Parts: sequence; structure tokens; C-alpha cells
Amino acid sequence: MRILVCGGTGYIGSHTCVVLAERGHDLLIADNFSNSSPRVLERLQAITGKTPAFERIDLRDRDATHGLLREGGFDAVVHFAALKAVGESCEKPLDYFDNNITGTIHLLQAMQAAGTKRLVFSSSATVYGDPDRVPVREDAPLRVTNPYGRTKLVMEELIADLCASDPAFHAAVLRYFNPVGAHPSGLIGEDPGGTPNNLMPYICQVAVGRRERLSVFGGDWPTVDGSGVRDYIHVMDLARAHADAIDTLQRERRGFTVNLGTGQGVSVLQLVQAFERASGKAVPYEIVARRAGDVAEVYADPSLAQSLLHWSAEHDVDAMCRDAWRWQSMNPQGFAS
Ligand SMILES: NC(=O)c1ccc[n+]([C@@H]2O[C@H](COP(=O)([O-])OP(=O)(O)OC[C@H]3O[C@@H](n4cnc5c(N)ncnc54)[C@H](O)[C@@H]3O)[C@@H](O)[C@H]2O)c1
Repeated sequence: MRILVCGGTGYIGSHTCVVLAERGHDLLIADNFSNSSPRVLERLQAITGKTPAFERIDLRDRDATHGLLREGGFDAVVHFAALKAVGESCEKPLDYFDNNITGTIHLLQAMQAAGTKRLVFSSSATVYGDPDRVPVREDAPLRVTNPYGRTKLVMEELIADLCASDPAFHAAVLRYFNPVGAHPSGLIGEDPGGTPNNLMPYICQVAVGRRERLSVFGGDWPTVDGSGVRDYIHVMDLARAHADAIDTLQRERRGFTVNLGTGQGVSVLQLVQAFERASGKAVPYEIVARRAGDVAEVYADPSLAQSLLHWSAEHDVDAMCRDAWRWQSMNPQGFAS
């Protein structure tokens, strides 16, 4: 298939491009590099042996987005392009609404005008907020707690309304839990600018000597060891799920919403220990106060993805840590190394 990958030079997008290219799809990557590096393109070429077709474009540019879809002849679009930092979204909510929602409206309008009717959309477990029970199923109540999460929920609703208005438009809404790890080559991985918002890149930067110690937010949660519990998923498993979602859209001829996680809860301290084992490096940490809005325990019920996509996560926490460390140690300053 000919596939447009919006946000394809970002963390999850770049790994997904590897899997899609390996499955023989013909890709065009579109990105504005607001949170990624042009060097990703060289690395993708090194991994896949093919020069990726690329267009520098901001989805907020309506005319450019329409032009891209009109000329592209795409069979499907995978839409990663969004701002994603929860803390920043509380400081700059309008930027998040502008980038994430305006960009998505332009993309959907352009798809409609071009007759491209298959979409794979990056949503997030953040739409569940503090769930009533774990593991979390797709029919759990949706209750977002921050502007970033609200943009994800609004985008899900926009997509659902479009699908309701056009029965030929089919969307796969993928609710990711906590993506970590890197491609086993160590050539691409997560490279946050500034202070990392997510746990694994923070651990990696402590281990490589860029930061002194990890702050663990809360040691008195009602969990196995008092630290927060999440569902970490290897980014290559997540990438594979996108390719499987495209196949499923084609096979089933209907849209769906699925959780993508392992179904296993892992605590912050368990992840630190696994990382120390995988890297042979000490990760000093201190337990500090809980952060407002955090929750004790969130992990997925991934059974719908198993039955519908014939997909399940294959990598365990040790593999996630090993691959994250290989990426970080080969690229101590990320793509600027
Ligand atoms: N990483 C996570 O923990 C996580 C968890 C759940 C959901 N998600 C979602 O998955 C998607 C990808 O996440 P990621 O971790 O790869 O993030 P990322 O920031 O690495 O990738 C997003 C890419 O989109 C690009 N982009 C942003 N706005 C754009 C615009 N207006 N026009 C063109 N390009 C634009 C950025 O430059 C970047 O390359 C996002 O939608 C995010 O909300 C991520």
C-alpha cells in the first residue's frame, strides 16, 4: 500500500516506518521537525536500505496538507503528529489545541477531499485518566485530566463523527500505554529535547551520566513496592501493531479502537532494577512527593488487540531496557551525538 506517515520522524513514527517498509509498503513521511531530527531519515536509510521519501510540512498549513494528499495517491494515513508533553500542555493549552486539533482537522479534510479513507490514529491511555479498575478495557469511562489528554479525546471524537458521517471511512484508534525501548540496531530511539517527561529516557540519561539522579514521584502508592505501576510496551511491538492495524482495516472493512499494552503492570522501582541489570549501570534515585494528577496503577487489558489484530506484545521488560540502553549508550546526546 502507499502510506502517508504524519509525524514519521518522531519516536514511535520512525520505528513504525521501519516495520511498514519491511512489509513492502511504499511510504511518504511528513513532519515539521518540531520535535524530531532530520538525522532520523539517514538512520532509517541505514536500517531499511532505502532512502525514505520525505516532505517537510506542518499539518496546520491547510493548503500544503491538502496539496500533499491530493498529489499523493495514498491508500492509508498513519497519524502520529502531535505535541505530547502533559506538563507543557498545562502551561500552553492553546498551543496544544492549535497543533493537535487544527492539524488533525486539516488532515481529515484533506483525506476526505482526496478520497483516502483509511486512518491509523495515535491515541493514548491518558484518555482513561484514573481508571476505576485495572486491567483497563476499551469500554472503561473516559475522563481526561489535562489539556494534552483533552486534545486526544477531542481528536478521537472528531474521527468517530467523521466515520459516522461516511461509512466508507475506516479508522483504527490505537490507545498506547507506555512506549519504551528502541530499534535493536541502536540507530533510532527516543530523544526528548530538554528534561525528559517520561521515565525510561530519564533513567537512560542518569545511567549515561547526563543527569545526577532519578526522582521517583511517590513511594506510598498502594502498589507492590509503593511506586507507581504502569504498562510499558516495547516500541517495536507497538510499531508492528500499526502494520497489523492497517491489515485489519483492509480485512474487516470497519473501524475499531484498541488498547496496546502488554497487560503487565511494572512499578517504577522494578523498571529501575531491570534497567540496572540490563545496562550494568547504577541508577541513583530518590523518592519525592507525588505529582498532582498522577495515579497509582494503570495497565491494559490487551485482549481486544489480540483477537482483532492477531497482535500481542512479544518483548519483556528486560528487552525493553536492553534496547533502550543500547540506543542511549551508542548516542549519549541522542541524534545530536
Ligand atoms: N510517547 C508516548 O509516551 C506516547 C504515549 C501515548 C500516545 N502517544 C502519541 O503518539 C504519537 C507519537 O508520539 P511520539 O512519542 O513518537 O512523539 P514525537 O514527538 O517523537 O513524534 C511526533 C512527531 O510529530 C511531529 N509533529 C508534531 N506536530 C506536527 C505538525 N503540526 N505538523 C507536522 N509534524 C508535526 C513532531 O516533529 C514529531 O516528529 C503522538 O500523537 C503522541 O501523542 C505517545
